[in-house]
This record gives sequence, C-alpha cells and structure tokens, in this order.
Amino acid sequence: MNEEQRKQANQIKQVDPTDIKSDADSNLERIQHIDSDELIGKYFQATYEPPNLKKAKKRKREDVKVHYDFSIPEEMKSIGKDKKFLIRTYGCQMNAHDTEVMAGLLTDMGYESTDDTNEADVILLNTCAIRENAENKVFGEIGHLKPLKLEKPDLIVGVCGCMSQEESVVNKILKKHPFIDMIFGTHNIHRLPSLLKEAMFSKAMVMEVWSKEGDIIENLPKVRKGKIKGWVNIMYGCDKFCTYCIVPYTRGKERSRMPEDIIQEVRQLAAAGYKEITLLGQNVNAYGKDLDMKYGLGDLMEEISKIDIPRVRFTTSHPRDFDDRLIEVLSKGGNLLDHIHLPVQSGSSEVLRVMARRYTREEYLKLVDKIRKAMPNTTLTTDIIVGFPNESDEQFEETMTLMEEVGFESAYTYIYSPREGTPSAKWEDNIPMEVKKERLQRLNALVNKQSAEAMQKYEGQTVKVLVEGESKKNPDVLSGYTERNKMVNFKAPKSVIGKIIDVKITKAKTWSLDGELVKEAVEVN
Ligand code: SAH
Ligand code: SF4
Ligand code: F3S
Repeated sequence: MNEEQRKQANQIKQVDPTDIKSDADSNLERIQHIDSDELIGKYFQATYEPPNLKKAKKRKREDVKVHYDFSIPEEMKSIGKDKKFLIRTYGCQMNAHDTEVMAGLLTDMGYESTDDTNEADVILLNTCAIRENAENKVFGEIGHLKPLKLEKPDLIVGVCGCMSQEESVVNKILKKHPFIDMIFGTHNIHRLPSLLKEAMFSKAMVMEVWSKEGDIIENLPKVRKGKIKGWVNIMYGCDKFCTYCIVPYTRGKERSRMPEDIIQEVRQLAAAGYKEITLLGQNVNAYGKDLDMKYGLGDLMEEISKIDIPRVRFTTSHPRDFDDRLIEVLSKGGNLLDHIHLPVQSGSSEVLRVMARRYTREEYLKLVDKIRKAMPNTTLTTDIIVGFPNESDEQFEETMTLMEEVGFESAYTYIYSPREGTPSAKWEDNIPMEVKKERLQRLNALVNKQSAEAMQKYEGQTVKVLVEGESKKNPDVLSGYTERNKMVNFKAPKSVIGKIIDVKITKAKTWSLDGELVKEAVEVN
C-alpha cells in the first residue's frame, strides 16, 4: 500500500454531518440543524474504528516512516495575518509539547498568540483522556465556548489531543456540540494547516482522526513556552497496555525517533541557550526497541551527556524496561540529573498483576536497590492509583508500606477512573467512592509527610537553582528548581533569571524551599 492509499484507508475524511452545504450563514444553521443520531451512527460505522484491545495488541512491527519534508502549504502561509490563536492544554508533558508544535504551525501561518478567548480567531482544546475528570473539564469548556461561537460565527473552535481518539467523545461532540468546527487526532497534528483551511472554507465540521498510527514527522515548527527549559520527544506511543490505561489507544504504538534527529534538536536547544531539557515519552525506557539498532535509552543519554547543556531529565520511566546500561550511564552524573520518576502504581504484587504492570513489589524494590547502589543520592518520585477494582484494604496497606520503604520524596496520586475501551473498564468498579477517597487522603498525608521530611534535609545547605522567573505568588520573589527538582523561592535581582546560581536554603516547607542568594554563578557543564 502506498502512502496515499494508507492515508485514505485510515483517515476520517472531512465530513459534513449535516449535509447543509452552503446556505447563507450556514455556520449558524449548522448549530441548529445537526442532531441526527442516524447520520452520526452511519457515519461512524463507515469510518471510525473505536479502541479495540485485541486489534491493538496485534500491532505488528510495521515500518515506521520518518518524514523530513514537512512544509506549510504555500496558500496557508499568511492565512493568519492579523489574526490570533489560543490553545488550551489539558494533558501531560507530551500533550503540552504538542501544543508547542501547534503554536509553531499557527505562528508560521501568520497567527499571533493570545490569552483572551474574546480576541481569538482560532481556539484549540488540546485534550487529555487519562481520567474522567480530565474529560469533564474539556466538556465544561466546550459549553462555555458555545455563546462565543454564536456571537462570532467566524471563530474556529477545534478539539484535538487524546480525547479526539475516542469514539464516545467524538460521538458526544457531534451530537451535543455540533458548533465545534474541527476535530483532529494525535496523529494528525501536522495536518493542522490543511484542516484549518477546510474548516474556514467549508461550512461543515472538519474531522480527521487516523486510527492507524505509525509515522514520525520531523522538522515541525515549534514555539516553545519559555527559553530556559525545553521538551524533546524521543519516542511516541506506548505498547505496555496496562489494563486501566487509555494511552496505548490514544497515542498508538511505540515509535522511536532516530538518535541523530534527537541529538540535533538537543544541540539546537543548547545553542539557543536553553539550560535544561526533558526527554519525553510515555515509556522512555523502551526507547530504541523498535529501531532494530541495539541502541537504547542508555546509549542515547550517553551521547546527550556530552552535549553542552547543563541539565538533562527524562520522563516517564517504566520499571520493567529500566536496564543496567541506563543505570550505568546515569550513575556517571554530569548533566544527567539524579532524579528519577518511576511510577509504581501499587505496592501489591497481586494488584500489579491485574494492572498488567509486569513486575512485582519485590522486583520493583530490587530495581530501587540497584538504582540506589549506583546513585546513592537519587531522588525517587512516583505515580500511584488507589481504588483499582477489587483492591482490598490489605492491598492498599501494601501501597502505604511501599511508599515508606522506598522513601519516595513525592508522588502523583490518583483515584482509579475506568476508561471505556480498556480491559479494566469491563470489570466492576467495586470500591465505593468513600473508600477510594479515604485511601487517597491517607496516602496523600503520607506523601506530604515524606515530601516535608525530604525538604527538611536541605535546611542550611547550598543548592544549585536554575532560576525560571518571578514566583507565581509574589513578583518580588524569584523561583527555580534544584537538580533534584525541588522548588526554591528566594530574593535576587532579575538578572539571574535563566541562570544556574547557588542558593542557601533558609526554610523548608512541605512542597518548596525558601532560600537566599549566595552567588551569581552560571554553572557550565
Ligand atoms: N506512562 C506513564 C504514565 C502515563 S499516565 C507510566 O506508565 O507510568 C500518568 C499516570 O496516570 C499513570 O502513571 C497512572 O498513575 C495514572 N493513570 C493512568 N490511567 C489511569 C486511570 N484509568 N485511572 C486513574 N489513574 C490513571
Ligand atoms: Fe499507560 Fe504508562 Fe502503562 Fe503505557 S506504561 S499503558 S502509558 S500507564
Ligand atoms: Fe492525557 Fe494523552 Fe497525556 S491521555 S496524560 S494527554 S498521553
């Protein structure tokens, strides 16, 4: 199948769910007329493939095509002149980085960015599907935007990101919010210029969600948020299929970027004066597995450690793929920071088994031990889910004891949220909400205690802080992060913003440190 045929087979084309073509002011008519269950049903049967575990798990090692020839179509290059865009970001760092790519595309089309919805000509909601509350927020915002769209029919409102990859969401938008102008998936971001053109000139809802993933598009423009810290994608997708998780369906299979493309991007960021980069992937430890090059994250990090950029982080690590080579490279330090975010999800081997995490409590502890031996000062942080189907009180207690045993310095904690299309959504969500909330509260109290204790150790110490800017709460105070990712607030001249400086810690709080400037020294790698 050639490229064009592949695209045709897998994409949802621009559709006109209303079949209202070009009546006068049909933008408004469309809002009033589309509500046909029958049409939507027919349309989806024909073109949309909902998440399907069996099928997704049969993913073959198809060739991943890397495209280096991206450019904005000529006719779209100045379409945004004197116009503004606003992108709302709801998801993880990968989602936020996608926002930077879309901002890059829109900027190259002549648009300017704005924070004011009333000023915007294009509004994109870059959504997240990880938990129900993430989706509820988006539907809330869609509701808020409707009056604005009625007032300004030329406004283009688009929904993209992980929710657009879900059939139920797309159905709901078609049925309940037909004023939305475009929906596009996570594999269609580079198509934004063409989709926008369609949305502007056709009166129909434009939709493009490729259910089949596979390609990597290089050389997309980016407008990064800030000039101090930058994100660099090293891989896309996830093949782990934890039973609760929607990501392998919304982001597709694991695809690694070529090492030289990543290294080139890191070099460019270093040359542009960035002080810190974070290598991104849903499961960065699987980096390289699909490349058939015997080249993994350890090898990549080793090469990146030679680049003149002071700080390198990476997220997110899956314990299963955290290999000895990576530990060896990380233990050499340099610009590779000794903070590892290593989501454990549960402290019970039985819960881990049904989550399909593919490690036991004991194996996780062994890995932690190995990491600590190689890097005694490493900070470990984690993610935990409480209230997974059938999680007993005893199993939850195992999570509490693991939290203490590892000594995590911080954790993102979540109440289990069933996601349609995932295996666990078919199991009874049988832990009552009060029990889930109580478990979360107890766990959070422990997380706070351990975070505060970790902070306490810094009192009186001098730490290196990468200064990011004014504190959000007080513009007279500057704020930045230590190598181990602790937030520090201190008074200093604004000239130190963007520099790595020595700060003496005067007071530890639960989630941050207060300090005073010692000296304005820029640390070179
Ligand atoms: N790839 C990363 C995490 C991605 S999602 C990893 O494997 O660790 C971020 C976190 O959201 C997960 O670590 C998990 O703790 C949480 N999460 C994912 N699906 C969830 C669900 N259905 N309900 C509650 N929390 C969930
Ligand atoms: Fe989701 Fe992470 Fe598991 Fe992948 S490894 S399925 S992203 S929790
Ligand atoms: Fe959310 Fe998608 Fe990230 S579901 S957490 S935005 S990969």
